[in-house]
Amino acid sequence: MALYLMTGLIIVFLFLLLLLPFYYVYKLRMIFHRYLSSESIKGKVVLITGASSGIGEHRAYEYAKRRACLVIVARRENLLREVAEKARKLGSPDVVPICADVLMVDEDCKRFVEEAVNHFGRLDHLVNNAGISSMCLIEDATDITRFQPVMDVNFWGSIYPTYFAMPYLKRTKGSISVNASASAYMHPSGFSIYTASKAALLSFYETMRSEMPPEISITIATLGLVESEMTKGKHLNREGTTEVSPELADTLINQLPAMSTSACAKSIVEAVCRKERYVTEPKWCAVLFLLKAPCPGIIEFVNRRLHLRVKASVAKNFSMPPPENRSA
Ligand SMILES: NC(=O)c1ccc[n+]([C@@H]2O[C@H](COP(=O)([O-])OP(=O)(O)OC[C@H]3O[C@@H](n4cnc5c(N)ncnc54)[C@H](OP(=O)(O)O)[C@@H]3O)[C@@H](O)[C@H]2O)c1
Repeated sequence: MALYLMTGLIIVFLFLLLLLPFYYVYKLRMIFHRYLSSESIKGKVVLITGASSGIGEHRAYEYAKRRACLVIVARRENLLREVAEKARKLGSPDVVPICADVLMVDEDCKRFVEEAVNHFGRLDHLVNNAGISSMCLIEDATDITRFQPVMDVNFWGSIYPTYFAMPYLKRTKGSISVNASASAYMHPSGFSIYTASKAALLSFYETMRSEMPPEISITIATLGLVESEMTKGKHLNREGTTEVSPELADTLINQLPAMSTSACAKSIVEAVCRKERYVTEPKWCAVLFLLKAPCPGIIEFVNRRLHLRVKASVAKNFSMPPPENRSA
């Protein structure tokens, strides 16, 4: 057994030794190539879900500055109209706001993709951005079934539009981008369901890279803290209802500074236009990912320490439901 293991390790080592230099030369070439041949999206058609606030809203402005035509989707119609107005002023030739819920498969997801194609005759970029967050230690949840919307919006709310947009993106050799989260790698306490939904997204779109034609680029954004309604405390609370609690956000997440929404949106759009496979913002999160691969124990140790602090702080500042009031 030990002999097989040793032989296997030697083969892998020799293989990497011979292959890695060529691989990195190839990667460097591709990086230069991408920087030199960034896609022009002037006049192209971009559909953005969750464009009424936060990162999605600023993605719309970034695309507008590059003179792309926009279809912006969210549930709050009044906010969408304001975003549309601003995007037009920033340079977008045409903006179509569509009030829709990414959870409604045929009624909404199919409809907004078709409305985009009927209006513009094509679709070039699909931006899967809509998402919600839950902030709650699992043992504090009063009814665990009330957290299903997190998985539904964050995971299925990206899959449905992708499914309906695929035939059109194939025609234009377009691009898909999706907002995953650094938390899918780092697993912070209090966000278990949210991080699981983002990890599911990562896994789905990694698989799509081989299922889709190579001309369709897929950019996965792994984001840390970025200013938005989410980081201001909008979340599903332990009862599973939407609440805005800046105090809880301060306790659970805002220990670190949040990146500006516009800088984050600009960086993602640049990465999408360069057909990058991944983009991480703020950039320092990438250092944590590098640390996690060889030393997962360190991240787990830090997470556990933070968890104990969070637990103590939540217990002190937010009253907990008695265990007998919990339901399955
Ligand atoms: N901010 C961060 O630090 C951070 C970090 C990592 C990942 N992300 C991800 O980035 C994405 C954008 O979040 P954000 O930070 O910009 O938060 P945000 O300001 O709360 O924006 C969320 C957007 O999603 C839309 N949305 C939510 N549920 C929807 C539904 N059922 N149907 C259609 N639209 C829906 C909201 O619009 P309506 O309410 O009007 O429908 C809103 O436009 C999310 O996927 C989030 O998970 C954010």
